[in-house]
Amino acid sequence: MKVDVAIIGAGPAGLLLGHLLRAEGIDCAVLERRTGAHVLSRIRAGVLEQVTAGLMERLGLDARMKAEGLPHEGFNLADGERLIRIDVKALTGKEVVVYGQTELTRDLMDAAANRGLDVIYEAADVALRDIESDAPYVTYSRDGGGQRIDARFIVGCDGFHGPSRQAVPASAGRTFEQVYPFGWLGILADVPPCNHELIYANHERGFALASMRSETRSRYYIDVPLTEQIEDWPDDRIWDELAVRLGPDAAAAMTRGPSIEKSIAPLRSFVFEPMRHGSLMLCGDAAHIVPPTGAKGLNLAASDVYYAAEALTGFFKANDNDAIAAYSARALARVWKSERFSWALTKLMHRFPGDGSFERRMQIAELDYIASSEAAQRSIAENYVGLPV
Ligand code: FAD
Ligand code: DHB
Repeated sequence: MKVDVAIIGAGPAGLLLGHLLRAEGIDCAVLERRTGAHVLSRIRAGVLEQVTAGLMERLGLDARMKAEGLPHEGFNLADGERLIRIDVKALTGKEVVVYGQTELTRDLMDAAANRGLDVIYEAADVALRDIESDAPYVTYSRDGGGQRIDARFIVGCDGFHGPSRQAVPASAGRTFEQVYPFGWLGILADVPPCNHELIYANHERGFALASMRSETRSRYYIDVPLTEQIEDWPDDRIWDELAVRLGPDAAAAMTRGPSIEKSIAPLRSFVFEPMRHGSLMLCGDAAHIVPPTGAKGLNLAASDVYYAAEALTGFFKANDNDAIAAYSARALARVWKSERFSWALTKLMHRFPGDGSFERRMQIAELDYIASSEAAQRSIAENYVGLPV
């Protein structure tokens, strides 16, 4: 098979990019290691910035997001005693949409066939070849047979563990990394949310987040040491811990119910530079990871895709090589700002093992400052709602 662009990974980045390129008449194929059902079974992000929602709108795939997504005009920071509301809408004029990554991915998958987007699932042993040339290709196996896709560009949208970033020679790339000493234990349950807006809480006992997927489905998180096993957290223990950490008002409004999903995700900050090497471009988690505090992961994948689609469209429609050359620097400028915000919010809202009373007072002072300063709230709000692309 020969295409203009071979995309590796059918997560949100790969599918969004595939659709944007197809909308411009650019030939592409998406190669995914898993089944579609498996991709949809992974419960991940829940909050969409305007850049992400805007791409779905541009593709005309926003009907369900508009009907079922929940527009949120603000969110809350809690410190065990009070709620500090960040009025995102009043401070920025913009809002975010609560709509699960699963649902967004489903919308993109469901529309693929109609839009002529070829998604090849269960592609094993995907390998990138000749990425430093103008004629790269991808090999993989499927149904026991070896396959090959020739392309002008390969875009790696294959997440943190995928083969694309690994294909860049060590001498051509640089990594920046911070691993955090805790993970987020998430629980999904078909119960109404405890609050109509999200609450990020920094309590004496640790971090907690009250989020949601709909009016009838809640998503909650607590931070736990990396040594914890999910088997040691029966639902009741999680609900008890959430009730303490979120504070008495949220606890009183919290409905408990059986979990429909439970998992522990490690927290990491990671950036790989550059985001292009020869004929290979990287988008999303393949190039960078943020800790989930602030809900930036999926949205950063979407902004990378926005820049990548623009560069590839410039190349195929107007022979614009400069757009390709500029991709990495354009994407990284926004990536680093989101890395900073996610890191800062993680530091503000979590207890770190070595922290003493001084660090705690610094967190309280910063939360006090945020509570009393519109300038501080505006800074948080403009980052939370998403910096412009
Ligand atoms: P992915 O969604 O990881 O998609 C990559 C795709 O590539 C996958 O479908 C994978 O199967 C495929 N792939 C991998 N290897 C190969 C291969 N060899 N060949 C072919 N295909 C391959 N963000 C938030 O904002 N909030 C959250 O609560 C949150 N929770 C998260 C929990 C977990 C466990 C993880 C891992 C991430 C979470 N994130 C969260 C981050 C967010 O979900 C990601 O930033 C987002 O999924 C990035 O999209 P992506 O398309 O770049 O990568
Ligand atoms: C969700 C996840 C996040 O990381 C976040 O900051 C907000 C919400 C969620 O899964 O709903």
